[in-house]
Amino acid sequence: MTTVAEYPANIYTTDAILNPYPHYQRMRRLGPAVWLNRHKCFALPRYPECKATLRDDQQFLSDHSVALNALCNRLSRGTTLASDGDEHARRRKLVAHRLLPRALRGVSDAVDDQARSVVEAAVARGTVDGVDLATALPLAVVPDLVGWPRDQREHLLAWGAASFDILGPLNWQAIKALPRAVQMVRFVRRVVAERRVVPGSIVDELLHAADDGVLAHDDCPALMIDYIAPSLDTTISAIPNALYLLGTHPEQWQRLKEDPALIPGAVNEIVRYESPLRAFARRVSCDTEIAGVAIPSGAQVLVMYASANRDEDEWDRAEVFDIGRDAGRHMGFGNGAHACAGQGLARLETTAMLQALLRRVDRIEVVGEPEWAVNNIIRRHRRLPLRLIAA
Ligand code: HEM
Repeated sequence: MTTVAEYPANIYTTDAILNPYPHYQRMRRLGPAVWLNRHKCFALPRYPECKATLRDDQQFLSDHSVALNALCNRLSRGTTLASDGDEHARRRKLVAHRLLPRALRGVSDAVDDQARSVVEAAVARGTVDGVDLATALPLAVVPDLVGWPRDQREHLLAWGAASFDILGPLNWQAIKALPRAVQMVRFVRRVVAERRVVPGSIVDELLHAADDGVLAHDDCPALMIDYIAPSLDTTISAIPNALYLLGTHPEQWQRLKEDPALIPGAVNEIVRYESPLRAFARRVSCDTEIAGVAIPSGAQVLVMYASANRDEDEWDRAEVFDIGRDAGRHMGFGNGAHACAGQGLARLETTAMLQALLRRVDRIEVVGEPEWAVNNIIRRHRRLPLRLIAA
């Protein structure tokens, strides 16, 4: 067995959250599994170990394990994200089919229309905040799709961000977010109990399935949280990341203008290069080893999607943003049994936005200093001043 190297820095300070890549690089250099003394877990900063861990969901468990703190792990009980084995498969089967590309055909026209009108309005204004541009699209589509009632929509962004923040360690950032995350859970429980969900939506369908005895009514709130909580901040990360990267790499934007068939590859490269989700954890079910490092039963391992996606041993010129590369094997949407159930929708939204931009915009210019938001899990801009120059 190899002695495990220790990484002494706290990777969840504000500085580390705002500038994570030097930490990831140092951790990758230290070894395939690195002990984080601050967080009492083994971090996996390289690509092969992240992939192998995500694909072995018998040995690396999600129940009571995805967050780096016990409080949030308790709150996440009953979700697809935080369940294992047959229970996980059962929960996933109840909802995930509604987000497959075929099922999403029903919303794809609405997504395209919304993307077109958002871009049209932005072009008319000239200078815009790329975060506002990105926010309008998922907010217009996802709450109706999932079934969120008309009221309390103004809280959705803050509640969604909080539900990610609490998945980190129990630092000040998570503690500040906790009341908002709890408010969201309480509101969802009430909405489900009062059956106030949008008719025909995903959760409406779930409630009818519960009436028919397919699942318990008590299962429905956690499943609603499962799909509403990750549906906003994630795409509100990916779309501004796309705008920023294409604005600061005009030659890549030009390639995309000349060949829109590159869009699916560009979406993969955007999610590889600036992965919206930093890392989630797993718990080891028995004594094991990862690349020669002994990991005792019950230990937590941190799967670092964003670091794996910049691993120099996996990616040729990992630090270069290149929409022409084959980035399809990136880990930005996870991998294995828990791979993102909403990636079809995320791809649809990002693609619609890029298509609308290609149609109407000649150049994207980043004007002024962009700011990053502080969140334990999500890497996204807080503000992204842009000028869109019409074609
Ligand atoms: C760019 C946008 C997105 C990114 C980067 C992303 C990323 C991820 C990642 C990395 C995981 C794996 C979690 C794990 O390994 O434990 C995941 C799971 C999940 N995502 Fe996403 N996601 C995105 C958008 C969405 C959207 C729009 C929805 C819902 C509408 C969604 C719903 C889910 C669900 C339900 C799971 C849990 C799946 C399971 O445990 O079986 N995601 N996502």
